[in-house]
Amino acid sequence: MADLTLKNARWLAPDGRFQDGTLVIREGVLRLSEPPHERAPVLDAAGMRVVPGAIDSHTHLREPGQEQKEGIERGTRAALAGGVTTVLDMPNNAPPIDSEERLAAKRKLFAQRSRVNYGLHVQAPYQGAGRGYASAKIYLARSSALPALGPGSLQEVFRAHRCVTVHAEDESGFLPASGFPGQPRSHHLQRPRAAVTSALAAVENALGSIPFKERPRLVLCHVSTAEELAWLEHVKSMGWDVWGETCPHYWRLTEDDYVRVGPQLKVNPPLRTQADVDALLSALAVGPIDFISTDHAPHLPQEKADEASAPSGIPGLEWYLPLVLELVESGRIGWSRFLELTSRNAARCFGLAGRGLIKEGMRADLALVSRRPGAPKPALITGAGYDPYPDAAFSWCVERTIVNGRIEGQAGEEVVT
Ligand code: DOR
Ligand code: ZN
Ligand code: ZN
Repeated sequence: MADLTLKNARWLAPDGRFQDGTLVIREGVLRLSEPPHERAPVLDAAGMRVVPGAIDSHTHLREPGQEQKEGIERGTRAALAGGVTTVLDMPNNAPPIDSEERLAAKRKLFAQRSRVNYGLHVQAPYQGAGRGYASAKIYLARSSALPALGPGSLQEVFRAHRCVTVHAEDESGFLPASGFPGQPRSHHLQRPRAAVTSALAAVENALGSIPFKERPRLVLCHVSTAEELAWLEHVKSMGWDVWGETCPHYWRLTEDDYVRVGPQLKVNPPLRTQADVDALLSALAVGPIDFISTDHAPHLPQEKADEASAPSGIPGLEWYLPLVLELVESGRIGWSRFLELTSRNAARCFGLAGRGLIKEGMRADLALVSRRPGAPKPALITGAGYDPYPDAAFSWCVERTIVNGRIEGQAGEEVVT
């Protein structure tokens, strides 16, 4: 069974401080007060920090339907490299996960192939019972091959689910490439921030029209603009059950990087300005951002070669903890905020019982990290085949990832039921 003893451990406790001692894991569960099991394997964690494994609430591992782009096995190996012990995978598969049958089929594949814990989002509109998935996802703009959900259907979706995640870009606000002659890299101009604000207005309108107690929890995915941060402040100040998620590429990269690098950095929503980056960095420190996901969205290198036809999406899993730890390293966030952003808040938001903290009785989902400035960058695993952060120097690296008490996670468990 998954028994393990971590000796010389220095772990991040729920109060945001580090505690020293021996971490005992029995049958995949943290038993802080028990003596080590005699026959359990021992891992010496001297010199490392033990933090909760990251919970990445937004990935696109592309299986079933587009395994050639990555697939569950490879995608969850990338997760392990980045210190991610749980992924919540998005439903825009080919075909989309919009029925109980398709959800059951995808669940079966994850049960067989996932090396980390997992939960699944379904695609709205969804035909099926209201349980067994992390959220219903709304795309207000076309995503991959999927048509967008019209604002007219928002209220219906909000009434049908307990938790809704939303891609807030209003397709009717997009501009044609032909409007930007002489600018071959105009993706960010074609999807202006006004399309985001109009999507937010539609969301607020539809949610506000439902009696308070009947509203679902709402997660605003991949926040990229200062306007979304202001909107989050506004709805949170009214007491609305709305959570904000952002991704490393929105605080590490700008539209200038996209124009310089090209289609590899073509992503939806597009990369924004330095002013947005500054606003996001402040929101990571003090709110209203609640958690960090990767929106890991691999496409094949050959698909990403041509600007006009390149699908949007960039990989992120293998860089998850190193990128967030850079925020700690630079003093932008403290350990307590690190804990909230990488595991605790996503566990609370999506109801992942027994996960997200290093505490007696919780599942042993852990990342062992160490400060090693100049250490080699994470090995490239993703099917996307490129590193979106080639110039980044990392001060921290992920030494080991433990899933349910097993080193380098042999098999994941479903975390949303
Ligand atoms: O850039 C993106 N890629 N944005 C999305 O909303 C979807 C994703 C994908 O599935 O490739
Ligand atoms: Zn999206
Ligand atoms: Zn996404």
